Amino acid sequence: MELKGIDKEILQKIEESELTLENIAVSTVTELIDMIKISEKDAKKLLSAAQNELGIQPVTALQFLESERKRGKITTSSTEFDGILGGGIWTQELTEVAGGFGSGKTQLCFQLCINVQLPFDEGGLDGTAFFIDTERTFSPKRIIEMATSRGLDVESILENIYISSAVNTHHLFSIVDSLAETIQEKNVKLLIVDSFASHFRSEYIGKERLVERQQKIMQIAEELVALAVKYDLAVLVTNQIIANVEEFLFGSPEEPALGFAWAHRPQQRIFVRKSRGSSRIARLFDSSRMPEREALFYVTESGLTDAPFSSDFYT
Ligand SMILES: Nc1ncnc2c1ncn2[C@@H]1O[C@H](COP(=O)(O)OP(=O)(O)OP(=O)(O)O)[C@@H](O)[C@H]1O
Ligand SMILES: [Mg+2]
Repeated sequence: MELKGIDKEILQKIEESELTLENIAVSTVTELIDMIKISEKDAKKLLSAAQNELGIQPVTALQFLESERKRGKITTSSTEFDGILGGGIWTQELTEVAGGFGSGKTQLCFQLCINVQLPFDEGGLDGTAFFIDTERTFSPKRIIEMATSRGLDVESILENIYISSAVNTHHLFSIVDSLAETIQEKNVKLLIVDSFASHFRSEYIGKERLVERQQKIMQIAEELVALAVKYDLAVLVTNQIIANVEEFLFGSPEEPALGFAWAHRPQQRIFVRKSRGSSRIARLFDSSRMPEREALFYVTESGLTDAPFSSDFYT
């Protein structure tokens, strides 16, 4: 563990006590004195260093605005889509993309795995992507197709996408639990879970298991947000849709799966649907920052685009 302004000796004691940074940040000064056997002065210093590190110290609204401006965004490759998101997919938060079969969720994920690697001035974060695949839909062939059509170095693009297949929710938890090191070592700036919903929906069936499912979903959502904040990366998960029995709640005959417990977790919620030909409509429907708006984009051979090639438009 490293902490700005904290002596090696104290860091050593922390390591011996097996406390995490999070444990420290939520402790009181007295608890820290007790647990680590340090002076009151050191405990106070340690507490504020840990809270600083995790970004949980209060800031003014002006400082907040400044840090929002500096936050990284990954372009979707569609100007209109980026527009409704305030510049693209943001770091330090959890974004959900919900939509039906073939709506373009996975295509968006692939595009972002490429775009996160672009330099900052081209809408990227000069980082790598970590793709947790629950449905075995990851397609290197499709990445090659997208990267080639944009004139990118295909080999380097492929080398900077890490893939892990999660076979069930238990496995998903263990992958997420062990990510911190890889994130730092490989400069991961985008973490994807595609699809987030599938294992939860297939493993926790029936009303008796609903509470357990909700708890698991909330727990992993919390872990994902913590990773996003701590390591300044964008986390994007895909969700399926289900028929909406109470239409007034979501204002449409379909709504994202996983229910209410999940619904408040992502900071940005996007709904994608198919439109004519290769066109798709993205709707940002729940955001703490941006108004509810729709954007038109296209899924073509070269990936996500603003305007389609004429042949794509008529297919
Ligand atoms: N090589 C390609 N060229 C053009 N369009 C493609 C290509 N590959 C996929 N697409 C488009 O993307 C669609 C599939 O989208 P995608 O796989 O992202 O769906 P999804 O939302 O992830 O669906 P699911 O819920 O089944 O996972 C295809 O139906 C097609 O319209
Ligand atoms: Mg998919």
